[in-house]
Amino acid sequence: MKVLVLGGGGREHAIVNALARSPSDPEILAAPGNPGIAEVARCLPDLDPTDVTAVVEAARENEVELVVVGPEAPLVAGVVDGLEAAGIRAFGPRAGAAQLEGSKAFAKKVMEEAGVPTARYRVVGDAEAAAAVLDEWGFPVVLKADGLAAGKGVLICPDREAADEALAIFFSEKRFGETEVLIEEFLEGEELSLLAICDGERAIPLAPARDFKRIGDGDTGPNTGGMGSFSPVPGVDPGEVGRLSVEVHRPVVDYMASTGEPFHGILYAGLMMTGGGPKVLEYNVRFGDPETQAVLPRLSSDILELFLAASEPGGLEGSEVAFSDDWAVTVVLASAGYPESSSSGDPITGLEEAAVLAEVVHAGTALEDGVVVTSGGRVLNLTGLGPDIATARRRAYDAAEAVQFEGRQMRSDIAAGLEGTDGE
Ligand code: AMP
Ligand code: GLY
Repeated sequence: MKVLVLGGGGREHAIVNALARSPSDPEILAAPGNPGIAEVARCLPDLDPTDVTAVVEAARENEVELVVVGPEAPLVAGVVDGLEAAGIRAFGPRAGAAQLEGSKAFAKKVMEEAGVPTARYRVVGDAEAAAAVLDEWGFPVVLKADGLAAGKGVLICPDREAADEALAIFFSEKRFGETEVLIEEFLEGEELSLLAICDGERAIPLAPARDFKRIGDGDTGPNTGGMGSFSPVPGVDPGEVGRLSVEVHRPVVDYMASTGEPFHGILYAGLMMTGGGPKVLEYNVRFGDPETQAVLPRLSSDILELFLAASEPGGLEGSEVAFSDDWAVTVVLASAGYPESSSSGDPITGLEEAAVLAEVVHAGTALEDGVVVTSGGRVLNLTGLGPDIATARRRAYDAAEAVQFEGRQMRSDIAAGLEGTDGE
């Protein structure tokens, strides 16, 4: 079977690696792919995943039987709708259901109507309306741009001054374009990424994961696309995963089905585990990055079978999603200047040595005259596996140390302080 994976980052490399482990040994294509993906798949470097017509054409031309969509932008742009209309199977939600990520206001409305626990919120269209809500609520609050903002549209405001700055960014500078703004109650607790694979009728949860969003150790400095992750999560055993999924995935899948927009693909619930129980911070409609890099190496079920089943209405009936007992820790290596800027063209050494210790996933690399060089903010992801978290962590960090390039940045505290919490 021929499978095309859309995207070219670390998440997509991890998906391609998981597909390569499938017993049915699919032929894998990727667009645009990257030098790491090119070791396992045939890349179509000039194909833009958000260009629906071009994707449909390329899938037809290459006789692709299944398209797996990595990032959110092609989903929101309707790539699954286009492929299905052309009779090509795709894994991921159609544009209507992808609005769960494409519009935060839509997601909040769904949560409210489906009875999913989430932070109190208001939607405002201008600074005056926002000021009236802030006068009533006080601080801290969280302000969010409504549409897709590549993780940058969320501003946490401890006081009025910060809120005024945030409102200027949203409504005067219009950094995120013409957008409505959500004002949200600030929630405290530990975050958890809980993903489920959905077939329009049911949601089967994957193993839980945690990601590290800030650039600096101890969760300091600005937010990034993610500096590391681990799976599973101490304290969140399979029974708890099942209970959480019934609260945060199932009602949404049922609700979407009832509105005629059934949800197929990965439903990612970003949770805050508050004193008052779990609350959904956001939904994403695709695999998380870098959670996928820690979760998929632990998957023992055939991912190709699951993708095919989930693309059919009710197709997951009787499917099992099983994970090994291993722990996985993923460390992200970023280039100089990240997250404000990034550095490209720096030669990378030590990749072969690292591959002996860990799964080496390419996120932002390029090939220049046969040499792998940096090309973007997040460059490589190293996933260590082991029977306990200390071993997984040591392997990831030993692999990370083996890889060298100018200005390399990483956090040293991914999955730190969790030793002795195994067996959960
Ligand atoms: P989101 O893109 O909505 O998940 O927000 C990005 C990050 O902002 C989350 O992972 C949290 O760390 C933080 N965040 C979002 N909403 C809230 C909230 N209501 N309270 C506290 N932190 C939040
Ligand atoms: N790890 C956060 C995300 O994928 O959105």
